[in-house]
Amino acid sequence: MIQKVQITIDGKTIELPTMEAKEGTNVIDVRGLIAEGMFTYDPGFLSTASCDSAITYIDGDAGVLLYRGYEIEQLADNSNHLEVCSLLLNGELPSETELQTFVASIKEKQTIDSKFQQIFNGFTQGAHPMAMVGSAISGLAALFHEEIDITNADSRMTTAHRLIAMIPTLAAMAYKHGRGESFVEPDASLGYAENFLNMCFGETGKPSTISRTISSAMDKIFILHADHEQNASTSTVRMSGSTDCNPYAAISAGVSALWGPAHGGANEAVLDMLNEIGDVSRVEEYVNKAKDKNDPFKLMGFGHRVYKNFDPRAKVMEASCHAVFEELGVKDDPLLEIAKRLETIAREDDYFIERKLYPNIDFYSGITLKAIGIPTELFTVIFTLGRMPGWISHWNEMLSAPYKIARPRQLYLGEHQREYVGINNR
Ligand code: CMC
Repeated sequence: MIQKVQITIDGKTIELPTMEAKEGTNVIDVRGLIAEGMFTYDPGFLSTASCDSAITYIDGDAGVLLYRGYEIEQLADNSNHLEVCSLLLNGELPSETELQTFVASIKEKQTIDSKFQQIFNGFTQGAHPMAMVGSAISGLAALFHEEIDITNADSRMTTAHRLIAMIPTLAAMAYKHGRGESFVEPDASLGYAENFLNMCFGETGKPSTISRTISSAMDKIFILHADHEQNASTSTVRMSGSTDCNPYAAISAGVSALWGPAHGGANEAVLDMLNEIGDVSRVEEYVNKAKDKNDPFKLMGFGHRVYKNFDPRAKVMEASCHAVFEELGVKDDPLLEIAKRLETIAREDDYFIERKLYPNIDFYSGITLKAIGIPTELFTVIFTLGRMPGWISHWNEMLSAPYKIARPRQLYLGEHQREYVGINNR
């Protein structure tokens, strides 16, 4: 490994130390540069490691994703979501007893104070559930503000358990409110994914009728979304958390960042795009639009900042998507036909090949969720549910070691200092 990097500023040579990654790209430690009166410039953080972390590793060229060292493919095949939550939070796969204790702790925290339902009543029917979920998580900041001690590891873990336990309940409440339907209480006898689906599509007092195929596809979707190192929403959670704010408030900031169509909102945008295309015969027209530099349109569900080979989550999701289609007997859905045609054309087109634009997880999760009958407005909420353990593990990791408030600098390009001009002279 290169030990030191030298840069010369106006004839003066400065040595910058390097730091060795356990896997992947090493980094140049530029923290000393400020003493030389210079900043680095990297909008969008293309070349910047914002922190060190031991949670998740991505090799974008090889299409590898590891949670705490374990391949996503193995976890998706062998684990369930709560086991993966425990792994992300604690660093190791839990023993049977540890898992039982963790699951019991989650189940006992699923129910939300009935007064809390008033938060949802403040929203109009038809409000987007992501807006309601973000606000509801902010509401938890009020509910638990006094008792949180972010400097205490046990208190942080209680917060993490609560968020993992409550996010399905809040998400389902948002969904039900949007539909003008009454809330369904959590059922501790059901698995994590089935309980969420039952709170969305079931009725209080009636046994769950959610099929095993659908609940296990949902559990896999949660696992595949559980963490993705320093993505926009996780970085938002870290940045907010670095101010020592209430952790529920930091997570709510992450929810806002996730909602955008360039990030978690892409799964919903994929379906909107397929609906807009409307017919297989128009796929080529839309591919041409995506390639046109004068048109802001992008193919939703294609491309990724880090994966320049394939998205391993998309591969698992693609297989699960086909299995779901088979089991449900989905054959000739017009939107799925459009999706398949789009995928084929984009994979053969030089524009996409040269730029290494592959279908990402949102492409397949969007069409899988559609096939299993999940309403489009819930797609990004489902990403939120999946990503919760990642956000809270990163927040906890940051607070477990010395950290600084995240405060980037800028390259100022505005006016020089000038005299104030009175309103009559402007
Ligand atoms: N359709 C058409 N062209 C694209 C697309 C696309 N989906 N994505 C990137 N490009 C082009 C882009 O115009 C640029 O072209 P050129 O080099 O000629 O200027 C080139 O590919 C590189 O793209 P970029 O915008 O510099 O890449 P980025 O790393 O800044 O953005 C991205 C990554 C995911 C935001 C972007 O690919 C995109 O907007 N994709 C569509 C939205 C989407 O599916 N997002 C979900 C990402 S996966 C879920 C998650 O982890 O959040």
